[in-house]
Amino acid sequence: MNEKERRHVAAFLTPPRQSLAERRARRQALRALQTRGSAQPARTRPEPARYLPRAGEPGPAALRSPIGLRVPRHQDTSATWSAAYPFLAGSGLEADGVFIGQDATTGASFTYDPWVLYQRGRITAPNVVIAGIVGAGKSALAKALYLRSLAFGRRVYVPCDPKGEHTVIAEAVGGRAIQLGPGMPTRLNPLDPGRRPASVTNEEWTAQVRARRRSLLGALAETTLGRVLSPVEHTAIDVALTAAVQASDDVPVLPQVVDRLLRPDRADDPDSRLVEDGRPVAHALRRMVAGDLAWMFDGPSTVEFDPSLPMLSMDLSRVAENAAALSILMTCASAWMETALADPDGGQRWVVYDEAWRLMAHPALLRRMDTQWRLARHYGIANLLVFHKLTDLDNVGDQGSAARATATSLLANAETRIIYRQETDQVGPTAAALGLTAAETARLPHLGLGEGLWKIGGKAFHIALQLHDTELALFDTDARYSARA
Ligand SMILES: Nc1ncnc2c1ncn2[C@@H]1O[C@H](COP(=O)(O)OP(=O)(O)OP(=O)(O)O)[C@@H](O)[C@H]1O
Ligand SMILES: [Mg+2]
Repeated sequence: MNEKERRHVAAFLTPPRQSLAERRARRQALRALQTRGSAQPARTRPEPARYLPRAGEPGPAALRSPIGLRVPRHQDTSATWSAAYPFLAGSGLEADGVFIGQDATTGASFTYDPWVLYQRGRITAPNVVIAGIVGAGKSALAKALYLRSLAFGRRVYVPCDPKGEHTVIAEAVGGRAIQLGPGMPTRLNPLDPGRRPASVTNEEWTAQVRARRRSLLGALAETTLGRVLSPVEHTAIDVALTAAVQASDDVPVLPQVVDRLLRPDRADDPDSRLVEDGRPVAHALRRMVAGDLAWMFDGPSTVEFDPSLPMLSMDLSRVAENAAALSILMTCASAWMETALADPDGGQRWVVYDEAWRLMAHPALLRRMDTQWRLARHYGIANLLVFHKLTDLDNVGDQGSAARATATSLLANAETRIIYRQETDQVGPTAAALGLTAAETARLPHLGLGEGLWKIGGKAFHIALQLHDTELALFDTDARYSARA
């Protein structure tokens, strides 16, 4: 019997006397037997299939490295990245539109079209406000937006262009720029009625034209006088306008209104009180027909509004820089064009107010603008207003005044707010006005040329405008100024 057999027997037959060594040997033999017995079923189980080594693939595919991991830079479309990195890639506005540029956060292309967003219910009004410091690229963005929209059948109107920078674009796209200024042959009558839209009856049209003329004359007089008109002054304007319409047999001109204010009919003013009450208004309006502002708006229009043109712009660059006068002239030019645009069947149109703060620098002009702004949606118009800072509007009227409330509501009506670089002192008020987050606010002073923070109906995007070489050449305002210097 060999050692092994002895041990085996020892497991089942316990001899009466065993030495310590024998007992240990028996226990070990028993343990070995039990281990072998319990291991038996495991050996019959199928081994799990191993596809990869337990420690992963050896080599670079293991993504383990004793030195820092370097992955080559990769760019791709937002469609790809939104799957690869769902937490990083933004989905944009998920709406068609013209290409603007790149989303600086995600690298995705950014497109925008206010009419598409409006139709989809993403915004309730297609108006746009752009604000930024001098030279930030605000006008370039406005130009890119409307120029690229032309291919989609939209038309473009620039009711007042104090720097004349839209003229070159109007001419390049087959449109027209009307140049106004002392010594220029063109004259516009801001009291022109415009074309009656087919959907408006004759009576409605007469009432609309009358209301528009009264509001314009009132706004011009208030702005020149620097105060609110009294009820008698409003009556004086009303009576003079009626008489001027009768005298002209249809379209009155400003000199006729001034004349009637200074010399009303006996029948209209039997006790000569109206002439007394209307005298300040007459002198305020007289500035438009005599003196420094004469010629441009004091006779029948020498140009016709051509609705078939893709673009029409009012070039006021020849008007001498005189802040108050320029605001008034811009208002007259805008009024003439807005009248022509008051047609719900006129299609989708951009109306661009560059240097818009001038048009709203006075409460009366702001009120007129607000009315126009509200009508725009009904006419299929998207207004685009360019400011330097959003607090431009805060300078109109006193805190808590009606004018300030109008300014605030005007901003509230623009659901697309594009903020370009801001001065540090403007960051706080801008953030408060737009409800920016801390991260968005922190970006404002550091935005580069052509970069803006777009707030559209609750969403925010950091977009860098990309310009084609041809666009760059057309939009280059720096070259224009350096050439003049
Ligand atoms: N995205 C851009 N890429 C390259 N150049 C740009 C871009 N945006 C603007 N520019 C250039 O910067 C210059 C200033 O732009 P722009 O005239 O639009 O500024 P602005 O904000 O309207 O200035 P201002 O307040 O004086 O009206 C222009 O020559 C324009 O061509
Ligand atoms: Mg500009």
